Amino acid sequence: MTQTIMVTGGTSGMGKAMALALKEAGWNVIVTGRDLERLQQMDHELKQIAGEHLTIQMDVRDTDACIAAVNQARETFGRLEALVNNAAGNFICPTDELSPNGWKTVIDIVLNGTFNCSHALVKGWQEDDVKGGQILNIVASYAWQAGAGVAPSAAAKAGVLNLTRTLAVEWGYKYHARINAISPGPIERTGGADKLAMSPEHAERIRRNVPLGRFGTPEEIAGLAVWMLSDQASYLNGECIALDGGHWLNKQPF
Ligand code: COA
Repeated sequence: MTQTIMVTGGTSGMGKAMALALKEAGWNVIVTGRDLERLQQMDHELKQIAGEHLTIQMDVRDTDACIAAVNQARETFGRLEALVNNAAGNFICPTDELSPNGWKTVIDIVLNGTFNCSHALVKGWQEDDVKGGQILNIVASYAWQAGAGVAPSAAAKAGVLNLTRTLAVEWGYKYHARINAISPGPIERTGGADKLAMSPEHAERIRRNVPLGRFGTPEEIAGLAVWMLSDQASYLNGECIALDGGHWLNKQPF
């Protein structure tokens, strides 16, 4: 039976690449996003791929909207097995200059948004008796290192990484679910690259710090996501895979 997956923030960058690749791989795909125009464009692109899909306008910060999106997916496809918590928000700001609302905004999108969608999903699993569902979270290596200049995102991603491991245990036992994460390095054509590589010189400095000497692509992230969500990865649970060309390991001590 065809399984159904929801990708949040799925109209651009890694989310878009994952949504397209998952539909290619045979999933029913639901894409959520805040921007109606981008959703319409995504609907057009998804139509080029065989199978079923849905686009839903919503903000992961809105708990009721997350519940409504999950229920719309369940009504359309019978049940919702899987979720990619991809929606994120980030900007570079020294923490002593950050406003409380700046802090709250990023935490709300990244950490609370991940909880909102995951919690709505598990309620659907309960009602539809879904066993073997999945969640794939997107983190960053500053979840376990320092995130100077991006404190709210770093704190939120650390929370998401812990939630990945915690739910892998809780929901592994209870729902035979697999909860995993990807930690992307610098990836071209993403909101993160636009926001975090502030100038061509800055982008070049980041590139030189990647042992493989280049940014990754959204399609490379999508390839890993498709595999992690496939039966080939059926024993993978609570794991975070860094796909970053060796970036986070590179401390260049000599
Ligand atoms: N530096 C410092 N503070 C900033 C900031 C920046 N570059 N950008 C936003 N903020 C602050 C705002 O000043 C505001 O705080 P205030 O009310 O005290 O002034 C707060 O963050 C919320 O900003 P706002 O623009 O109202 O939020 P939003 O909900 O419209 O947008 C963002 C959320 C800021 C995260 C926005 O960048 C976004 O939507 N990003 C999504 C895409 C993205 O970030 N992708 C990268 C993922 S890695």
